[in-house]
Amino acid sequence: MVRRRRMTRAYTSDPVDPAVLERALDHATRAPSAGFSQGWAFVVLDTPDTVGGFWSAQTDAAGPDGAPDRWLAGMMSAPVVVVPCSRRAAYLDRYAEPDKRRAGLHEHDESRWAMPYWHLDTAMAALLLLQSVTDSGLGACFFGLVPGRVEAVKDVLGLRDSAQEEAPHPIGAITIGHPAPRATGARGSASRRRRTPWREVAHRGRWGAGWSGQEA
Ligand SMILES: Cc1cc2nc3c(=O)[nH]c(=O)nc-3n(C[C@H](O)[C@H](O)[C@H](O)COP(=O)(O)O)c2cc1C
Repeated sequence: MVRRRRMTRAYTSDPVDPAVLERALDHATRAPSAGFSQGWAFVVLDTPDTVGGFWSAQTDAAGPDGAPDRWLAGMMSAPVVVVPCSRRAAYLDRYAEPDKRRAGLHEHDESRWAMPYWHLDTAMAALLLLQSVTDSGLGACFFGLVPGRVEAVKDVLGLRDSAQEEAPHPIGAITIGHPAPRATGARGSASRRRRTPWREVAHRGRWGAGWSGQEA
């Protein structure tokens, strides 16, 4: 259920049922994608070693000498981390096919694209994954990679360009597990900010019209 999904920032030590994880990945691949390019990939970390390697790449505070703050300690308690990655090359290849070539988007020139659909579509897939985990009764949190640590994360995940292929790009990461009591983890931005009601962001007909059509 959409309204039940909230980011979970601390987890119990209960393992994640592989069937839940596999269903969430299956649901993620039901996301829409431009030209049905499906330019996403998911690096799934579900062992203490691989999860630990990810956190060490993300931040020095995760190491033996580190002092994780409340947020990091809670997030590091997740038994599973999924890293959704976007594959730009899949779009350039797809838009070079006969039915799409006319659009001229297959050139290696991002400015020709109205927006980078590879990131957009991967984000849509990530949301379906979050929703699926929620519907299975577990918790998840999407979070951004630390700026300056993206290359280290790519290294530890094996995301390196080869002569044949541009490496997928991690758009963020998702922790997954059984939620610990809410008070355990860090409180996210949503605890400090008001959720904007839809009537304040929907504009009927044109920007600025608002929903009732009476606004200036
Ligand atoms: C692109 C993106 C980056 C985010 N980065 C973080 C993050 O670094 N740390 C974190 O705790 N939450 C992060 N979040 C989660 C947001 O804080 C959260 O979605 C927002 O506060 C609304 O709360 P809710 O998802 O529980 O409704 C991120 C969400 C998105 C979409």
